[in-house]
Amino acid sequence: MGKQYKIAVVNGDGIGNEIVPAGVSVLRAVAKKYNFDITTEDFSWGAGHYVKHGEFMPKDGLETLKKFDAIYFGAVGLPEVDDTLPAKDYTFKVRTELEQYVNYRPVKLFSGVQSPLRDKTEEDIDFVILRENNEGEFVQNGKIFYPDTPNGCAVDTSMVTRLGVERIAHYAFKLARKRRKKVTNVTKSNTLIYTLGFWDKVIAEVAAQYPDVEYGKMYIDNASASFVLKPEFFDVIVTTNMMGDILSDLGGAIMGSLGLGGSGNINPEGDYPSMFEPIHGSAPDIAGQNIANPIGQIWSAAIMLEHLGEQEAADAIVAGIEHATAQGNLTKDLKGSASTSEIAERIVSFINS
Ligand code: NAI
Ligand code: MG
Repeated sequence: MGKQYKIAVVNGDGIGNEIVPAGVSVLRAVAKKYNFDITTEDFSWGAGHYVKHGEFMPKDGLETLKKFDAIYFGAVGLPEVDDTLPAKDYTFKVRTELEQYVNYRPVKLFSGVQSPLRDKTEEDIDFVILRENNEGEFVQNGKIFYPDTPNGCAVDTSMVTRLGVERIAHYAFKLARKRRKKVTNVTKSNTLIYTLGFWDKVIAEVAAQYPDVEYGKMYIDNASASFVLKPEFFDVIVTTNMMGDILSDLGGAIMGSLGLGGSGNINPEGDYPSMFEPIHGSAPDIAGQNIANPIGQIWSAAIMLEHLGEQEAADAIVAGIEHATAQGNLTKDLKGSASTSEIAERIVSFINS
């Protein structure tokens, strides 16, 4: 028997309850085939848990998660629950407290999937967005003053630290060395002259330590247009928390659907478990119908195994996804008619074959 991994499974809400089990079935298939052991424990946390118990996860939730090798997560949020809570009480909490400072979000066109960019091929759409995941615009450092008066005002202060920028930048350059050796810093330092001016300065200092990697910066407005017009320009993108959040939905869109995007919230040092989840949310509009695209969730399982060192199993999952899409097994978001569970079954049978 090979290695053993303890995985905390958090379906969350909405389609999480359909796509996470689909992903777990694929995980079990590769574990069997590649001879390692996966033990899972389910946690029914999220907005549904909040409705019943007044909290997204128990007070000792983070301590519980620390005992696992990784966290496999769907998404949280329900229409009937205040939508400022999912990030504050679950996602950001886990990402920051467990120092998952790299949000790794690959963008790749799978064969058989039609990108909305009509002239672009699989060779053109293949890059990685690295979103700084612990600071930046999303630190929720602010206040609303006198909200119900004519003097009402609100502030949000973005936070950028040298430590925070250096560590994501080093990750970017090291990753680029394993890919096409090119890092693009997506920024907006022409207008956010303090935080992003400092961000650029620190990244340029780190860039100087990797002379073999091509480095350049691009403003977010131009980057958004370039995602559509020349995605082949990009290899590794390093950007801040909010810009990376927005760009990754655009990345999902040029891949053909938000439902295809997988991701890892990674603590590279391994001091804490990392968390793997699709880039999208709980999609309450299509929940409970077995029509959600499980591929982003399944791809997240591959990213998790890659992180755990099971590269062969990770590659087999990606090959399984490509096999399924290339054969025309597509869910409704990709104009197909396959169900969530059918896609998972296809991928499992490919792995078993
Ligand atoms: P969303 O990503 O859930 O949905 C946006 C659109 O994409 C919807 O039309 C949805 O049907 C579609 N979509 C998303 N995933 C899909 C999939 N796998 N297959 C097919 N179609 C898919 O974003 P939205 O609607 O803004 O947010 C819904 C809830 O999710 C909110 O409560 C939000 O706060 C939460 N959310 C949670 C996240 C997380 O837990 N990491 C991330 C983003 C949103
Ligand atoms: Mg997002």
